[in-house]
Amino acid sequence: MTEIERLTTGVQGFDELIGGGIPRGFFVAVVGEPGTGKTIFSIHFIAEGIRLGDKNIYVTTEESKESIIRQAAMFGFDFERAIREKKLVIIDALMGYRDDPWSLTDLSVEELVNKIIEAKRFLGYGRARLVIDSMSAFWLDKPAMARKYSYYVKRVLYRWDFTALLTSQYAVTTSLGFGFGIEHVADGIIRFRKSVVRGELKRYVIIEKMRQTEHSLRMYEIEIRDGVGMRVVGPTRYRKEDTVLPASVTARMIVSELQKLLEIPEDVSGSRED
Ligand SMILES: Nc1ncnc2c1ncn2[C@@H]1O[C@H](COP(=O)(O)OP(=O)(O)O)[C@@H](O)[C@H]1O
Ligand SMILES: [Mg+2]
Repeated sequence: MTEIERLTTGVQGFDELIGGGIPRGFFVAVVGEPGTGKTIFSIHFIAEGIRLGDKNIYVTTEESKESIIRQAAMFGFDFERAIREKKLVIIDALMGYRDDPWSLTDLSVEELVNKIIEAKRFLGYGRARLVIDSMSAFWLDKPAMARKYSYYVKRVLYRWDFTALLTSQYAVTTSLGFGFGIEHVADGIIRFRKSVVRGELKRYVIIEKMRQTEHSLRMYEIEIRDGVGMRVVGPTRYRKEDTVLPASVTARMIVSELQKLLEIPEDVSGSRED
């Protein structure tokens, strides 16, 4: 059997679930509702890259660069130093700073890809980690393009030795992705979830897909702690099905989500009460 090179994620207890880490060169979708831990997972992945001497690029669209640096610092990761030492480039797509060469001035996928390649050239040759957090921002106003854009990003960046995490936001009500584009091109899908159990917010992770990997099929509880960060606590008693709404309810919600996305007025949708 050929040995696959895998990149450890830096999240305690996680790599064991995927046979030791994410295969080099993979594009992995990291999906979930707001507050489930996608950004913190991504920060760990980059911190691990810094530790191992990889080239690291973090694109942030929903938080400023400063916010990512502060969040990382809460878990003991010095991203400012990594930037100074040319181990990390944070591309800020939110603030549009004019005096920062790594700022994105518009949210076009072409500019994004060009900036990432520029950052890779700047960091130099070698194994690289890329986070795009989140991809959803690039097609918020044109969700129908999601799949095409995701494919474009993967095709163009494929040659640059990236192992990439692409985060994507899910709608709170239905868990339906904005444009559900990344999953189609992804080599792996890591899905974060949350639910309130006996009055307490619990977070979970499940690996829905990881090519060339005999991965765990169970849902795991995770926790995020100040000064420490994310870790896998252990498998849950719950199956994925237990936290999902009945199919009929989900179907109705999906139709309404799609109507919103496509801006179809409800009275032409053909649905009726029976
Ligand atoms: N220093 C910290 N200590 C403990 N929990 C934290 C800390 N920082 C953030 N969190 C938790 O992480 C959550 C945010 O996770 P995040 O990865 O940003 O979510 P997502 O990117 O999926 O929207 C917060 O709502 C909070 O519960
Ligand atoms: Mg986030």
